[in-house]
Amino acid sequence: MWDCKEIGLFICALSILPLLCFSANFVPIDNYLIDCGAPHNTSVGTRNFAADNFFKNFLSTQQNILASTSLTSISSAGDDSPLYQTARVFTESSKYTFQINHKGRHWIRLYFYSFSYEKYNLSTANFAVATQINILLSNFSVQKNPIMKEYLVNVTSDTLVITFTPSDNSIAFVNAIEVVSVPDDLIVDDAFTLNPLASYSGLLTQALETVFRVNMGGPTVSPGNDTLHRTWIPDQSFLIQPNLASNVSNIGAVKYVKGGPTENTAPPTIYGTLTEMNSNNDPRSNFNVTWQFDVEPGFQYLVRLHLCDIVSKGLNELYFNIYIDSWLAAKDLDLSIINNNVLATPYYKDLVSAPTTSNKILVSIGPSALNSDYPNAILNGLEIMKMNNSMSSLSAAAAVTLSSTSGSNSKKVGIIAGVSVGAFIAVVLVGFFFVLCRKRRRLARQGHSKTWVPLSINDGTSHTMGSKYSSGTTASAASNFGYRIPFAAVQEATNNFDESWVIGIGGFGKVYKGELSDGTKVAVKRGNPRSQQGLAEFRTEIEMLSQFRHRHLVSLIGYCDEKNEMILIYEYMEQGTLKSHLYGSGLPNLSWKERLDICIGAARGLHYLHTGYAKAVIHRDVKSANILLDENLMAKVADFGLSKTGPELDQTHVSTAVKGSFGYLDPEYFRRQQLTEKSDVYSFGVVLFEVLCARPVIDPSLPREMVNLAEWAMKWQKRGQLDQIIDATLAGKIRPDSLRKFGETAEKCLADYGVDRPSMGDVLWNLEYALQLQEALVQGDPEENSTNMIGELSPQINDFDHEASVTAAQFEASSLDDLSGVSMSKVFSQLVKSEGR
Ligand SMILES: *[C@@H]1O[C@H](CO)[C@@H](O)[C@H](O)[C@H]1NC(C)=O
Ligand SMILES: *[C@@H]1O[C@H](CO)[C@@H](O)[C@H](O)[C@H]1NC(C)=O
Ligand SMILES: *[C@@H]1O[C@H](CO)[C@@H](O)[C@H](O)[C@H]1NC(C)=O
Ligand SMILES: *[C@@H]1O[C@H](CO)[C@@H](O)[C@H](O)[C@H]1NC(C)=O
Ligand SMILES: *[C@@H]1O[C@H](CO)[C@@H](O)[C@H](O)[C@H]1NC(C)=O
Ligand SMILES: *[C@@H]1O[C@H](CO)[C@@H](O)[C@H](O)[C@H]1NC(C)=O
Ligand SMILES: *[C@@H]1O[C@H](CO)[C@@H](O)[C@H](O)[C@H]1NC(C)=O
Ligand SMILES: *[C@@H]1O[C@H](CO)[C@@H](O)[C@H](O)[C@H]1NC(C)=O
Repeated sequence: MWDCKEIGLFICALSILPLLCFSANFVPIDNYLIDCGAPHNTSVGTRNFAADNFFKNFLSTQQNILASTSLTSISSAGDDSPLYQTARVFTESSKYTFQINHKGRHWIRLYFYSFSYEKYNLSTANFAVATQINILLSNFSVQKNPIMKEYLVNVTSDTLVITFTPSDNSIAFVNAIEVVSVPDDLIVDDAFTLNPLASYSGLLTQALETVFRVNMGGPTVSPGNDTLHRTWIPDQSFLIQPNLASNVSNIGAVKYVKGGPTENTAPPTIYGTLTEMNSNNDPRSNFNVTWQFDVEPGFQYLVRLHLCDIVSKGLNELYFNIYIDSWLAAKDLDLSIINNNVLATPYYKDLVSAPTTSNKILVSIGPSALNSDYPNAILNGLEIMKMNNSMSSLSAAAAVTLSSTSGSNSKKVGIIAGVSVGAFIAVVLVGFFFVLCRKRRRLARQGHSKTWVPLSINDGTSHTMGSKYSSGTTASAASNFGYRIPFAAVQEATNNFDESWVIGIGGFGKVYKGELSDGTKVAVKRGNPRSQQGLAEFRTEIEMLSQFRHRHLVSLIGYCDEKNEMILIYEYMEQGTLKSHLYGSGLPNLSWKERLDICIGAARGLHYLHTGYAKAVIHRDVKSANILLDENLMAKVADFGLSKTGPELDQTHVSTAVKGSFGYLDPEYFRRQQLTEKSDVYSFGVVLFEVLCARPVIDPSLPREMVNLAEWAMKWQKRGQLDQIIDATLAGKIRPDSLRKFGETAEKCLADYGVDRPSMGDVLWNLEYALQLQEALVQGDPEENSTNMIGELSPQINDFDHEASVTAAQFEASSLDDLSGVSMSKVFSQLVKSEGR
């Protein structure tokens, strides 16, 4: 027999490409090893971790805070101890940018150890870490011991950007970072599903996090003894009944063969040791050896079983079964036949679990009924990797919220606006801006105590529902994984779904007003009996709202999925939809300033969705009926049932794929089905015109050229006569500058091509600016300026008969729900068929 070295040398000799030599050490093309905050390079085994001032061009951060502690304070005595000695601390969102020379799988290894340095106590740090695509960590804090988090991501762009974002009033830090190429074939696309055991494909796009990497029947294998610098830990502590297991070690026997796993798959120290049944040569032995691993529920896991039969003396001696969570993962497995009847050759099998509801994964091995001699079963190694969820996240924790304190918020506005100024206005205007900005900040500070509402359920400052509810008797609300509320509590809250408590009816079902046992007012949206479509949107909404918390996004208090119900419970928005305040409901008219404030609030919410995370979230159904107002008329964006992370190509068929609401739909999305944030910008532009003109976006009762608000308003905007079609109640109350800015902003949003539309951040800034222009008047001399007011409106054009017109509002009488989920054609036929109210 050849041993692996001989084969290796043989192939190396033949090959001009040393990388093809499967037993040679893998040389990573990208190999960034950074010891963050360190004054000089640090060597760990044979590897050199460079001091991060060497990588200073890679790093964008506001401040350079380097922290260090004494080596002796670090409890783990591993080779990597020196890495934990220093850290880089971030007080603002900061990025490391790595040039990627070889696209494909990379390790991202993040080292954390919390110590105290000057005024920074790293154990109080709470932060999120994300790449451009994946959320790796969120709401993350580091406990006492040093910890290394390892990820395996497929990098498909030329750079990898790792962003560290501190949570509210907190800091972020990192002690060391590795970004290292991985052999392309380490993770292949195909695997097997459990229950039933069937083929699975799609691993290539998955981001993975190593949660366990175990060497069965052997000792710890440290990074220095693994070609890919992995750490493997012994299995003893995971065995449920250690007495049923025994060890075998025969490292020299392991034969890597061409086409099979290589040393990069797992080193011989893994394949050469195993745990088997401790059957004491009793031929009647019939039991399983089981390991238990604690995992986070709600995710799918990739379980890789490493197998190598170093116990059999001859072929076909050993048959056994492997189970994962009691599902058969391999039946009557005979390793001796897998590699052309060569014993002791490594083999691995990848299995993908269904999303777990349990917080543990059980792996068992046991004898097969086919056993000839005496029963046995083996396992050499095991890796359990968490797979990203549909939000491309590896963390279930709720999102980082934007800062909740007024002080730091105005600072953010300043920064956002500051950036936009450069892009929009000549340098001369900058000074002017800062004056405005300072004034705005002052105003903001004055207004906040009244208008600011809680951001998250866990936020102790909550004054509406958060703290009351979580300390309430109804349920233990603030669990990490969504906020499940018992059906009985929902019944109680809505007076057993009292019909007279219905505040809206929509495609999804009915919306009830409700009150939790602690007095918190809620809106309860109860889905129609489960449909596949409804279920998907129900899940999306929960997923989105539990991850994204922001004062301009309506917050989810809880949900209930008991008894096939699909119930969502939101904070109650006293003042209903923006739409109902614009037309058709007889509510008092909103002033121009109120309208601007509402638009600004909604723009903030959308801006956060688009940029608050590693991956943009596209709302897909932006419209005035989805902008809700609280008791202070503060705007919050609602209804995330259709939201998606993007950009992406919708693969489904046209008629079902294009979702959103008629009149607001981005024509480019409609044409190309390419979904980007700019589709939301388009819809928001329509909302801006709706706010200005106070009429439905589609009004079939009007003359043809007026039916579609977007088209009609654009016509007037392009002629520079937008003032001719504004809401009659605003006549004489908008300052021309403010209107011009507003009109231009809306026009830009409605550009035919997404690339020509501004980002939500730019829209936000322009609206702020329109507000400044308006307020400049109010605070100046109103008398004098009134001559500049927009004059009388042309009566023909503004003569909408709101009462007679068909408004979409009648299908969305609901304040919370509406046409979402109803197919386009259905919406359209409803619009056409219905007669005026
Ligand atoms: C530190 O590491 C960097 C990057 O590997 C290397 O270029 C530099 O020469 C090292 N410095 C010292 C003093 O070893
Ligand atoms: C990375 O993903 C792309 C598709 O997104 C795939 O074509 C490529 O093969 C993947 N690379 C690896 C090494 O998994
Ligand atoms: C750092 O914070 C932790 C947790 O809040 C606390 O237990 C510890 O005493 C603090 N350490 C110092 C030095 O302040
Ligand atoms: C198996 O090996 C591990 C690690 O080397 C050791 O801790 C354990 O005691 C061994 N178990 C038995 C039953 O020999
Ligand atoms: C790692 O390799 C070194 C040198 O070959 C050896 O002395 C050591 O025992 C190995 N450690 C493990 C855990 O295999
Ligand atoms: C081993 O575990 C599997 C799955 O839980 C079970 O079906 C089987 O009966 C067990 N075998 C023995 C011998 O206990
Ligand atoms: C993980 O994210 C990718 C996109 O980055 C997505 O295609 C895939 O479906 C996600 N995985 C799961 C299990 O949702
Ligand atoms: C963040 O983590 C802490 C501690 O693990 C937990 O109590 C809290 O609920 C989490 N917050 C969110 C918003 O998930």
